[in-house]
Amino acid sequence: MSKDVAEGNVLELTGITKRFPGVLALDTVDMVFRKGEVHALVGENGAGKSTLMKILSGVYQADSGTILFSGGSVVFRNPSQAQDAGIAIIFQEFSLIRTFTVAENVFLNREPSGLAGFKDMRTARKETGNLLREIGFDLDPDARIEDLTVVQQQVVEIVKALSITATVLIMDEPSAALTDKELKNLFGIIRVLKARGVTIIYISHMLQEIFEIADRATVMKDGETIGTKNICETTKEELIRMMVGREIKDFFPASVRTRKEELLSVSGLRKGRKLDGVDFSLHAGEILGIAGMAGSGQTDLAKALFGVEAADSGEIKVLGKTLNIKSVRQAIGAGIGYISEDRKNYGILGPMAVRVNITVADLGRFLRGGVLSGKKEREEANKKIGELGIKVAGMNQRADTLSGGNQQKMLIARWLLKKPRIFIIVEPTRGIDVGAKTEIYRIMRALVESGSGILMVSSDLPEVIGISDRILVMRSGRIEGIIDQSGGLTTEERIMSLAVGHDYSFSEGIPS
Ligand SMILES: Nc1ncnc2c1ncn2[C@@H]1O[C@H](COP(=O)(O)OP(=O)(O)OP(=O)(O)O)[C@@H](O)[C@H]1O
Ligand SMILES: [Mg+2]
Repeated sequence: MSKDVAEGNVLELTGITKRFPGVLALDTVDMVFRKGEVHALVGENGAGKSTLMKILSGVYQADSGTILFSGGSVVFRNPSQAQDAGIAIIFQEFSLIRTFTVAENVFLNREPSGLAGFKDMRTARKETGNLLREIGFDLDPDARIEDLTVVQQQVVEIVKALSITATVLIMDEPSAALTDKELKNLFGIIRVLKARGVTIIYISHMLQEIFEIADRATVMKDGETIGTKNICETTKEELIRMMVGREIKDFFPASVRTRKEELLSVSGLRKGRKLDGVDFSLHAGEILGIAGMAGSGQTDLAKALFGVEAADSGEIKVLGKTLNIKSVRQAIGAGIGYISEDRKNYGILGPMAVRVNITVADLGRFLRGGVLSGKKEREEANKKIGELGIKVAGMNQRADTLSGGNQQKMLIARWLLKKPRIFIIVEPTRGIDVGAKTEIYRIMRALVESGSGILMVSSDLPEVIGISDRILVMRSGRIEGIIDQSGGLTTEERIMSLAVGHDYSFSEGIPS
C-alpha cells in the first residue's frame, strides 16, 4: 500500500511537473494542504495556478510527480474521478453549457441520480433553488445559461461546485465577477464549509480578499512554488514581493490632467428599463470612470455606445457629428474600441493564434496593395506581446491556451494596436496580477495623453478612484453625479452614497 498524508493534512503534492508545447507550466511543484484550512494560491498571470488545479481536478494529468490524498496516492484520469473522490472545482473559465438551464448545468454528468427522469429533474431544480437561496442569490433554476449575465454565470459555477459533497473545494478566481454583497455571502459559505472540515483552495488576484478569508497563502512564480506563509504572519507587501520579485511603487500613474477637445457627447440616451436618460461627455486626454452598484446601467451604457445593444433613443455625437450607432461595425468605423467584460463570448477567438487575436481589429493596416503583409503583422504582434508582457510560448500559440490574465492582456493589445480615439473598457484589470495592473494603468494613461479618451466601467472602487480624472456614478439607469478629481481624490464613501442614493456610511458600512 502506498503511504498516506501526514496527520492533519488532506493533500500533499510532490514534484508535480507539467509541460505544454513550448512551456514548462509546472516545474517540480511541492505543496501541502491541511484539513479544514482556507489556502490561498497567488502568483502572476501564467504562474501555473490554474494548471496545478486542473491536475488536482483531473482535467490534466501531470507528466511526473505524486499526489497524496487522504488514503494514499491518486491519479485522476478525468474530472469525474476527482469529483467522486471529493475534489470539486470552480473553474476560472466557465465550463457551462449555454443552451442548458441552471439546474441542468449544476447536476450535469451526475448520472446516479438519473437526470434523464422527470422526477429527478424536479429534485435537481429544488436543490439548485435551495443552494441559490443559501448563498443569497436570486436566480431562476430554469433560466438558460445563454440568457444570464456574466455575474449570474459565475454564481452557477459556484452553485455547481457547492452541490458536490467535497473534501477539497477549489475556487479559481470565484470573486472575479461578484459584487461586494455576493462576495460576503460566498465568504460566509466558505466559513461554514471550513467549519465542517472542508479544505478550500482559493485563487485570487485581490489580496484584500485573501487577507480576509485565508489561513495560509502559497506564492507561485513561473511554474514553481516560492513559499507558503501564514496569513497572520505576513503582509500584502511581502506577498507582492514574493510574487513579482520587486517592490511596487506608484501603483497608479499620476494624471497630467489636460482635458482637450470633446470626443464624445451623449444626451438623453435611453434603452428599455436599463438606461433612463443618460447625459455626459468624454474629452481627449481624460479617463472617465463609471461606477455604481451592479446592474445600475454601467455595462448597458458601454454596450449601447459600442452598438452591441443599441439604444432606443437619445443622441450620440462623436467629434461633434451626430451618429446613429446601431451596430458594432458602425461604432468601430467611428473610432470606438471596446473591451467587454464577457471576454469568452465576445472578444477572444479561442482556437486562433495569439497573433491573429491581436491584429484582427486592424488588419487593414497590414495590407500592402491588397495583400496581407505577414511580416509587418508579425512584427506588430510581437511588439505588443513584449510591451504588455503577455506570457506566450510563441505568437502562434492558440489563444484559449493562454492563462486567464494573459487572454485579457491580449485583448488590450488588440485595441492598443488600433489606437481608438474613444476607448470603452469594462473591468480592465479583472483577473490581472498586481504587477501587470500597474502596467495596464500606465498604458491607459499614455493612451489618453496621446489624444484618446477612455471610458472605464469598473466595480473596483480603489481602481476607479486611482485612475479616473472624473467619475460618473450611475444609479437606476441614470447618472446620479459626476465627481471631478482635479482638486484631489474622492472617497469610496462618496461614490457609494451617490450609488445607493443616501449616506452610505451610516447604513451599511464601507465595503472592504
Ligand atoms: N492547454 C494549454 N496549452 C498550452 N499552454 C498552456 C495550456 N494551459 C496552460 N498553458 C500555459 O501554462 C502556463 C500557466 O498557465 P496557468 O493558466 O496555469 O496560469 P495562471 O497562474 O492560472 O494564470 P492567471 O492568473 O492568468 O489565470 C501559461 O504559460 C499558459 O500559457
Ligand atoms: Mg488561472
